[in-house]
Amino acid sequence: MSKQKVILDCDPGHDDAMAMLMAIAADNIDLVGITTSAGNQKPEKTFANARKLLALTHREDIPVAMGAQKPLLRDLIIAENVHGKTGLDGADLPDPTIPPLPTRANDLIADILRESTEKVTLVVTGPMTNAAIFLLSHPELKDKIAQISYMGGACFGGNMTPQAEFNIYVDPEAAKIVVDSGVSVAMFGLDVTLKAQLFDEDIQQIEEIGNPVAEVMANLLKFFNLTTTKPFLATPDHVEGVHMHDPCAMAYIIDPSMFRVVPLHVDIDTDHGISAGSTVVDYDDVLGKDKNVDVAFEIDLPRFRDLVFKSMTYYNRIA
Ligand code: RIB
Ligand code: CA
Repeated sequence: MSKQKVILDCDPGHDDAMAMLMAIAADNIDLVGITTSAGNQKPEKTFANARKLLALTHREDIPVAMGAQKPLLRDLIIAENVHGKTGLDGADLPDPTIPPLPTRANDLIADILRESTEKVTLVVTGPMTNAAIFLLSHPELKDKIAQISYMGGACFGGNMTPQAEFNIYVDPEAAKIVVDSGVSVAMFGLDVTLKAQLFDEDIQQIEEIGNPVAEVMANLLKFFNLTTTKPFLATPDHVEGVHMHDPCAMAYIIDPSMFRVVPLHVDIDTDHGISAGSTVVDYDDVLGKDKNVDVAFEIDLPRFRDLVFKSMTYYNRIA
């Protein structure tokens, strides 16, 4: 089976961690690089967390580079209330066994694309600052990007404001650069990621897989389940699971048939008003503009869960 080369730009982050572990485990993905963004936590913490996850999976051969220290124009907003002081609270992770790369994200992405004989997919699971900087810095390499699959935004709703989702809210200007770039872009917003839920029994099943990676992920999910916001639809008799936002953007690259996506026109509100950071999705095509983004709305949840369990079982090879 041919493997799709993937660079993961992430802000680990509990759900980012699951996305990374799924990529490493997938038999049709070659995770050729990781870059880290400022988002869930400060840049030095998300960078450290990515390196610890690679130590946990014995994959420190994958290069990881720190990215921008803050959004393009705005002050950094972090989500310590959700991901904790470390950014990966709830589990003990091993320290890296190799020194950090001095390379910065923009250069690592450029080096990988320049040297690759085939196109590379960029999966972005945090604010899109690094992706925007790369697109502005290296227009000559844009054609080497197969697709950008990102977790962010929402056609309907928000989790930072009633209209804006965290990743886009943190850096709206970066998101606008990405959706206007002309690169093939797929969006996994709250419309689909709030449906990608794992429940207590799923977390227990992960824990019972019994390898060191599954144990860490189960503990991370237990913490994340306590801190993630439960949307208004959670009524007293409705059990809301833990939302696997970022894994949706990666699962799409592993198995796109798991999702229903619709090509739509997407723009970003880069103002500073009540809807700042919202993804303005032309759901009814009232503007008749270019369909610049494939927007995901539905997920085959049983198949998604199967992929999660298969990914965690992959790590049985680590004693
Ligand atoms: O709104 C969800 C997004 O914000 C996810 O990427 C999560 O990791 C946080 O960064
Ligand atoms: Ca994230």
